Amino acid sequence: MTPPMIAIDNVTKTFGETTAVDDVSLNIHPNEFFALLGPSGCGKTTLLRMIAGFEQPNVGRLTLDGDDMTSVPPNRRPVNMVFQSYAVFPHMTVADNVAYGLVVTGTPKAEIGPRVDEALHMVRLEGYGSRKPNQLSGGQRQRVALARALIKRPKVLLLDEPLSALDRKLREEMQLELVRLQHEVGITFVIVTHDQEEALSMADRIAVMDQGKLLQVAPPGELYDQPNCRMVADFIGKTNFFDATVTSASQGELTIASADLGELCLPDDGEGIGKVEIAVRPEKIDLFREQPQTTGIIRQGTIDQQAFFGEASHVYIRLPSDRQIVCHRPHGRGDHPERLHTGDPCWISIDQVDVRMLRG
Ligand SMILES: Nc1ncnc2c1ncn2[C@@H]1O[C@H](COP(=O)(O)OP(=O)(O)O)[C@@H](O)[C@H]1O
Ligand SMILES: [Mg+2]
Repeated sequence: MTPPMIAIDNVTKTFGETTAVDDVSLNIHPNEFFALLGPSGCGKTTLLRMIAGFEQPNVGRLTLDGDDMTSVPPNRRPVNMVFQSYAVFPHMTVADNVAYGLVVTGTPKAEIGPRVDEALHMVRLEGYGSRKPNQLSGGQRQRVALARALIKRPKVLLLDEPLSALDRKLREEMQLELVRLQHEVGITFVIVTHDQEEALSMADRIAVMDQGKLLQVAPPGELYDQPNCRMVADFIGKTNFFDATVTSASQGELTIASADLGELCLPDDGEGIGKVEIAVRPEKIDLFREQPQTTGIIRQGTIDQQAFFGEASHVYIRLPSDRQIVCHRPHGRGDHPERLHTGDPCWISIDQVDVRMLRG
């Protein structure tokens, strides 16, 4: 296996009473597009700043491309950081902004021009070199900030919520753009975001953090389908949670009782009997007007509410146990979104393979 580009070993960082990063261990691979995801205040920026060298861990060790970074200052690390508030100098032209990092380190003049052109080409800003930042859109200014970081040819680019100042449409455009850029330049990207959609759509792997701790590290699909705890299941996408109890474990199977879903059988996880939670994604619940002839978990309910949002609806259904659940109903090709009425009877069906059991 190739050695990691970034190795974080048992790193802890405290500020007074606050533990911002709590015993985090993590490897990030060369050429990986890696996302740090979690709610505000969970320690994402602090972890990124330790990689950059702006903060020192109290405990633990950090290596970059095999080298111990403990006593290496930020300007000697093979990383560059792009900040949320794109720090471009307003009085300088785009070209001078991009050249800045090379000028201050005394790069020969003859080399600077071609490298500025190359960096502007990477971010698709050819021909904008002589403009001033106030003659650019928000998205273009963010590209200048990217070009400024890339021109130093770092091994790792660190991006702290780089798109959060952009409106939704532009943000989606820049997400695709960042993925293209990362493929093109072939360096490791570490992006910090509190936006799960952003992380899911861009990253090769995602680390979910909460209160300084690392909860799960996995590719987007695995994180979504196999969350390892309630917090991850809740933070990534929408989920229905049900209280349940494992009543017996035998022959590789667990029998689980849920007041809402009835009795379920799931593969034995070896953890024995006790209270658990059952998680089911809204799109894994099929909705029928008549009793379906399928196998699996079938429950009768009534329609509570329908939230229509174009390509799909969220339908809220009341189960006999009085629990409300949400089911995702796509509006397919040739399909006319059907109007459902509050109080209408309905049936739901869930396949056992789409049921996820979470231990406390
Ligand atoms: N320089 C600092 N001094 C004191 N507390 C800090 C400092 N930087 C971060 N913190 C605290 O550490 C925790 C994690 O902050 P941060 O890493 O910025 O989270 P995130 O980027 O996930 O929003 C927060 O409770 C924050 O208030
Ligand atoms: Mg932050």
